[in-house]
Amino acid sequence: MSSTMMMKAQTALSGKVARPAKVSRRSSVRVAAGKYDEELIKTAKTIASPGRGILAIDESNATCGKRLDSIGVENTEDNRRAYRELLLSTPGIGQFISGAILFEETLYQNISTGERFVDLMNKQGIVPGIKTDKGLVPLANSNDESWTQGLDGLAQRSADYYKAGARFCKWRAVVSIPAGPTKLAATEAAYGLARYAAISQNAGLVPIVEPEILLDGDHDIDRTLEVASSVWAETFKYLADNNVLFEGILLKPAMVTPGAESSQKVTPEVVADYTLKLLKRRVPPAVPGIMFLSGGQSELESTLNLNAMNQSPNPWHVSFSYARALQNTCLKTWAGKPENVKAAQEALLRRARANSLAQLGKYDPAIETDAEAGKSTYEKNYVY
Ligand code: 13P
Repeated sequence: MSSTMMMKAQTALSGKVARPAKVSRRSSVRVAAGKYDEELIKTAKTIASPGRGILAIDESNATCGKRLDSIGVENTEDNRRAYRELLLSTPGIGQFISGAILFEETLYQNISTGERFVDLMNKQGIVPGIKTDKGLVPLANSNDESWTQGLDGLAQRSADYYKAGARFCKWRAVVSIPAGPTKLAATEAAYGLARYAAISQNAGLVPIVEPEILLDGDHDIDRTLEVASSVWAETFKYLADNNVLFEGILLKPAMVTPGAESSQKVTPEVVADYTLKLLKRRVPPAVPGIMFLSGGQSELESTLNLNAMNQSPNPWHVSFSYARALQNTCLKTWAGKPENVKAAQEALLRRARANSLAQLGKYDPAIETDAEAGKSTYEKNYVY
C-alpha cells in the first residue's frame, strides 16, 4: 500500500488525520502519527484559550539579578524563589494566565510551604513551561550578531523537563536589524528554531518558536516588516522541512513597530495593521497561537497594540507572552518587602486582566490607574 493510501485508510478508520511521523526516504513525507501528537495539540489549545496568555518568568539568574538589583534586593536563590512565588501564587491569576515559562532553577524548586512550583501552577490552572535554550553567544564571521546555543543534549534535557512536569518550552533566537541582518545570522536563527521545535515535540513539549526581531535601531516600520517577512519565511520553511506538527507549536514574535531609536511614531492601529499583514502572509492557520513578546514596549503600549490586533477575528489566537510588560509595576510595588506582597500581586493581576481584555479586543485604557504602566521597559542590547 502506498503511504497516501495508508493515510487515507487510517483516516477512514479513525475519523482523524494522522500526522506522518516516519519519514520515507524518497518523498520525505511522514507516514504515522507522532507519539505525543494528541497531547501536543491539547496543550497548545489550552495555552491558546480565550482571554488568556503566557507569563514569561524565565529570566536567567543574571537577568533576574538585574531586576532584583533595580529594587535593591540581593540576587540570591531564595530571593529569586520568593519573587516567583509571589507571582505564581497570586489569587485568581489562572483566569488570565494559561501558561508560565520558567527558568530551570524554578522548575525544580519548592515554594515556602514545601510544595513544588509545578504543583502550585497546576492548582492555579497554569501550564508549566521551561526555557530550553542555553542563551546567545557571538556568531563567528557575522556582523557582530549572535546565535542561540542549546541543541546539544536537548532531547535528554527535554525528556527530563517533561518528567518534572513541563509541557511546553521556549527557545529565543534574535535578529538585529542594524546589523544587516546578515543572511548567515537569519538562516542560523531559523534553522536552529526548527531543529529545536522537532526535538521538543518528540519529547512531548509544545515548542514556543521565538524568532525575535530586536527593537534596537532607528529604522522605520517598513524596514521591520521587510526583515521580519524574510526571517519568518525561512523559519516556516525549515519548520516544514523538519516535519514539525504546526498544530503543536506556538509562535512568539515581536510586534512590527519602528525601531526603538526611530523618530517615526505610529499608533496601535498601524502596529496592528502591519503585524497582522505579516502574520497573514507567513503563518499557516494550523498554528493555534501567536503569543507576542513585549520587547521593551511599555506595559500600556503592549496592551494597546494587542487590543488593536483583536478588533476583528483572526485565524489564530492572538495573545501575549510578556515578561517586562507584565512584571514591571508588580516588581516595583513589591520592592522586596513582605508587607507589599499583596499590593504587588494586585498590580500583576491588573496587568494580566488588562491583557486578557486586549486578547478579547475589549480593553479600555480608562481602567488604568498605574503611573508606571506608561513607562518604556526598553534596554539597548537586551540579553535574557
Ligand atoms: P519581554 O516581554 O520582556 O520582551 O520578554 C519576553 C520573553 O520571553 C523574551 O524571550
